[in-house]
Amino acid sequence: MSETQIISYEPATGAELWRGAVGDVDDAVARARAAWPQWAAQPLANRIELLRRFANEVRKVQDDFAALIARETGKPLWESRTEVEAVIAKVEISVRAYAERTGQRKLDSALQGTAALRHKPHGVMAVLGPYNFPAHLPNGHIIPALIAGNAVVLKPSEKTPATGEMLVACFHRAGVPQDVVQFLLGGPEEGKALVAHDGVDGVLFTGSAQVGIAINRKLASNPGKIVALEMGGNNPIVVWNTPLVQDAATLIVQSAFTTAGQRCTAARRLIINSAMYEPVLEEVKRLTDRMIIGAPFDEPQPFMGPVIDSDTADQLTESFLYLISHGGKAIRHMRRPQGDLPFLTPGIIDTTGALDRPDVELFGPLLQVVRVDDFDQAIAEANNTRFGLSASLVGGTPQEYNRLWANIRAGIVNWNRPTNGASSAAPFGGVGLSGNHRPAAFYAADYCAYPVASTEMEQPRASVGVGFS
Ligand code: NAD
Ligand code: SIN
Repeated sequence: MSETQIISYEPATGAELWRGAVGDVDDAVARARAAWPQWAAQPLANRIELLRRFANEVRKVQDDFAALIARETGKPLWESRTEVEAVIAKVEISVRAYAERTGQRKLDSALQGTAALRHKPHGVMAVLGPYNFPAHLPNGHIIPALIAGNAVVLKPSEKTPATGEMLVACFHRAGVPQDVVQFLLGGPEEGKALVAHDGVDGVLFTGSAQVGIAINRKLASNPGKIVALEMGGNNPIVVWNTPLVQDAATLIVQSAFTTAGQRCTAARRLIINSAMYEPVLEEVKRLTDRMIIGAPFDEPQPFMGPVIDSDTADQLTESFLYLISHGGKAIRHMRRPQGDLPFLTPGIIDTTGALDRPDVELFGPLLQVVRVDDFDQAIAEANNTRFGLSASLVGGTPQEYNRLWANIRAGIVNWNRPTNGASSAAPFGGVGLSGNHRPAAFYAADYCAYPVASTEMEQPRASVGVGFS
């Protein structure tokens, strides 16, 4: 057992929540390798049954699980509850996805015999999780991987290990063997070691583009390893003509500030028709001024809690100041209302005339506003990013929505809906720096198994054709 400890602190109070010793990567991978053939050889129905039991185990501890997520991430309790519900719902969605995307199929046979398409698991999958959805997002890889017959080593974010531990404990209580799904405590070093490990057949990563790119680079000479990268975004919300100003403002606030802006699909850039600017921004300001920002268990419940830690809060306030010092105009200042604790008020800044608008993901409650005069300019501005995760149009005509849909580069394109809150029953992924074309959620089944095409006859029967004397 390593001497190095990882400590998890509650963002809302600064108190220590949990600690544990860093795990042994070689040992975890060796145990997973030894365990997976037997897991893969089980009938699919047995694996599904165990995962349904997992859903029941999560149900039994639903309140405690939500409370732990709330404490460890700082998310309000109401929101943490929705995360636990998503964990439970993932099982049935993934059972359906496995059958639809990667089940077995008889194909039209050749002259004789049969032709079949089946899928096989890769082996040992490393799942690397982020802190913003510390249960739901790793689980979105783990369940499809287990259904397909892989073993899994989960290395959760070093900022939310307690949630990762609780998730894995639910699998074990359900009867999934200890070595088939493992919790490995660690930080970036353990993440790197897992990615590079010869005993790992696949890397299922959810996190920042910076780390995703490092993983891609590391594995560039190893094309045999399956790599799914779910990364961030610099997502646009385009507001065009609509008389429903309050609704538009609500959609903007929900898109930009839910989870204190710590969603990969959060709106980072509001691109707005100049004619709508005054009324919509007035309403956005009114709403953000009414927003309750507080600790996860406060009553009344807050809309948003703190960001994950003080370093993150410092970086976000620095980014806000950078934008101001480069020509941005503050609409609402980003403030830290509770001393050293990482609570932030939503920052809103008009960067229309800014000298520099770095195309980076600012993962927190910070919204940039850009005014435009025509719809082509709006689309061009929305596409003015290397990322391509989510985008929304608020208002506009069906024709304008069709134009935006056809021309925008993003994996999630919504109309009169927020940029976030994606459905687990749909594929979830982006283009550009947002992913590597291996979408998760409903399409996670695709990267958890590989297709094997076979033509088959019970006896060897063959006759020579053309070219023999
Ligand atoms: P992160 O990239 O810092 O860390 C993610 C995981 O990778 C952690 O477990 C971390 O320990 C590990 N890691 C760090 N360096 C590593 C390395 N060099 N090699 C291997 N593993 C390494 O991300 P985060 O800050 O925890 O999460 C926030 C980010 O996640 C945001 O960018 C957000 O947009 C993104 N995210 C994406 C999605 C999606 O589905 N597209 C969903 C949620 C969050
Ligand atoms: C996320 O995974 O960070 C957000 C998912 C969503 O709300 O769309």
